[in-house]
Parts: sequence; C-alpha cells; structure tokens
Amino acid sequence: MKGFEYLQEQLEDMKKEGTFRNLIPLESAQGARVTIKGKEVIQLSSNNYLGLTSHPRMEKAAEEAIEKYGVGTGSVRTIAGTLKMHEDYERKLAEFKHTEAALVFQSGFTTNQGVLSSILTNDDVVISDELNHASIIDGIRLTKAGRKIYKHVDMESLEQALKETQEYRTRLVVTDGVFSMDGNIAPLPQIVELAEKYDALVMVDDAHASGVLGENGRGTVNHFGLDGRVHIQVGTLSKAIGVLGGYVASTQTLKDYLIHKGRPFLFSTSHPPAVTAACDASIDVLLEEPELIDKLWENTKFFKNGLKELGFDIGISETPITPVMVGDDALAHRFSDQLFEEGVFAQGIAFPTVQKGKARVRTIVTAEHSREDLQEALNAFEQAGKKLKIID
Ligand SMILES: Cc1ncc(COP(=O)(O)O)c(C=O)c1O
Repeated sequence: MKGFEYLQEQLEDMKKEGTFRNLIPLESAQGARVTIKGKEVIQLSSNNYLGLTSHPRMEKAAEEAIEKYGVGTGSVRTIAGTLKMHEDYERKLAEFKHTEAALVFQSGFTTNQGVLSSILTNDDVVISDELNHASIIDGIRLTKAGRKIYKHVDMESLEQALKETQEYRTRLVVTDGVFSMDGNIAPLPQIVELAEKYDALVMVDDAHASGVLGENGRGTVNHFGLDGRVHIQVGTLSKAIGVLGGYVASTQTLKDYLIHKGRPFLFSTSHPPAVTAACDASIDVLLEEPELIDKLWENTKFFKNGLKELGFDIGISETPITPVMVGDDALAHRFSDQLFEEGVFAQGIAFPTVQKGKARVRTIVTAEHSREDLQEALNAFEQAGKKLKIID
C-alpha cells in the first residue's frame, strides 16, 4: 500500500546499521529454559524474576476464576467492569504495601501515564531522573506541568532543581526504584530527605523492585525503611508478579482522584478475572514462599561474580538485572546472536533504549534457574565473548 515509503526508508536505514530486530516468538512457556526457533535455550531476558508466570497456585486461581466468572469483564471499571475480586485484590495489595489504598491499572505503562498526566497542572512541576522509564517520560509529556530533569541519581542536581522550582504549588520528584537498563537502585533515602527539606512529593516506580526488594518483595520503599514517607508507589504486576497490570499504592484521596481522572483507568476495559485472581494469589506466594526471593538473590550473586571473573564489564548493577556492556549497537546484537548459537537467549539492547555508545546485552536471572543453567550460561558467555573479542 502506498503512503508509508517514509517509514520504509527508516526501516531500511536500521537494517543497514544492523539495528533492525524481528520479534522473537517463544514456542514454549516462559521459564528458565525456553524453546525458540526449535531450539532449547537458557532464558536470560525475561522479567519473570520469581518464576511466577507458571506458579501452580496462581494457575489454579486463574482457572477457578475463569470457571466462575468467564474470560472477560465486558466493561471499563467505572461503568460495569468492577468485579468484587478487583476491589478485594486492591485492599489486599494496599495492606501488603503498607499503604492506605491501592488502585490497579491495565499495565505498569498506563499506570505511570495515567498518574502523571492526571494529577499535575500548569501550577505544578515534575522533577524527573534523566534515566527514568519511557512510561514516566510519556506521562510527563502528557501534563501541562513544568519539567525539570535531574542528572541520573545525582543528588546535587536534584537539590538544584528543587531550589529552582519553589514557586510551584506541587513539586513531584519521580524516580525509578530500580533502573531497568542498568540495574542500579535509586538513592531513595536521600531523595526523600531532599523532598522533605523542600516540601516536595515523591513518586517511585517499582516495576523492577516489586517482588525483588524489601521484605517479601514489598519494593524499594520498604527496602530502605521508608514506609509512610513516599507519597506514590507505582509498580507492575507483569514482571516479578508474573501476570499483567500496574498499580498505584498511595492514599485513598489519590485513589479516588484517579478513579475519576486517570484516563487509562477510565477509558480501558478492566482486567479479566483470571488476571486478577492470579495477581491476588501472588501475594500469598510472596508471603508464604520467601525462599523464592532468597534463591533469586543467590542466583544473582553467582551469575554476577561469574561474569566479572570472566572479565566482562557489568556496569553499576546492584540487582538481578545485569547488563554486559559492549558499547557498539551492532556489536550488542551480534553478541546476542552468538550467545543464541551457544544456547543462551539474552537480548542486545541498543539506542534508543539506551544512550549511543552504551549498548549492552542485558541479562536477568530468575529464581527458576538452577546452578547448572547458570554455569552453562557463563560458559556460553565465555565462548561468545572470546569469539567477538569482547573479553580476552
Ligand atoms: C521501570 C518500568 N516502569 C514501567 C514499566 C511498564 O510496565 P508494564 O510492562 O507492566 O507495562 C516497565 C516495563 O518495561 C519498566 O521497566
């Protein structure tokens, strides 16, 4: 069809640069090992931190919910699509997060978009870390609020931004809890102290910290002992929780406001019963099977040490997200392809997801990986790294 030639040209350029990527379908369930292109490989690219995408207790809850309530809800939450189970789950989630209330959105992406776009006006300003997730950036783009971007985890830069914005009604400092591409943790205690000093609000996106950090996976706020001092906790139900969705854990006031003004919440159909039932069961799993989180961290230490011993540059990560830095965009993709040859699925991440010159293969170990899986993966990294002269 004519009319998209200008898009085709850009795609051709990407192909020339070696940055064009096809989607890669899994032919098996998500897990420590998956089947891709007919080959079994070790999965190091999922966000399935605790292996909950196929936890038997959550599968059972989902199956029972389908039997009882069907596969869909047929409406948005505010018209006829709120099931009792949606509200029960939100209460349970708020209790788990030690907050007054919680509200579930369709995804983590729409949560950030919905919160940021609805609670700020041109009387307000949002102060955002330069490496925050795309959904935070897009949420900010949708507000009429003033914007200040501070240097990544740089507290002097944040303080400067707070000093320069004292005339605004509300100042909202927003940060990822764990940065998704580098795996470093935001310096939340310092952020909260500065926000308190300058009378600003704090919002944390715990997409990569829910189920990973804090007691039973309560997230970065709990990890740093800051319960009650962070105004808005956002998270996803699609990564460690293993299902789908996003949440805001905060006050009843914010929840009520978002029910009326959060556009993705208002104008998009509610989660199917199976999704909500599985998310609900995930809280029981987090509370009753803390050994999953222990295993995740044991695996993380083992794998990070192994990569370091092999001579790879693994950046500044402090969490199960471990980038293996290579620099050049095309090299990151070649490295990923070579790893696949060696039996490991670990995706290359290049511009525009990360800055030019900072391309990497990003790995995430999970609680499901066995020592043998991880040792085999390290052997594959050694082979591929040597072949491409990334290590000696
Ligand atoms: C920091 C961060 N926030 C939000 C999201 C979006 O979450 P979801 O996949 O549930 O839309 C992601 C996922 O990529 C993320 O990494």
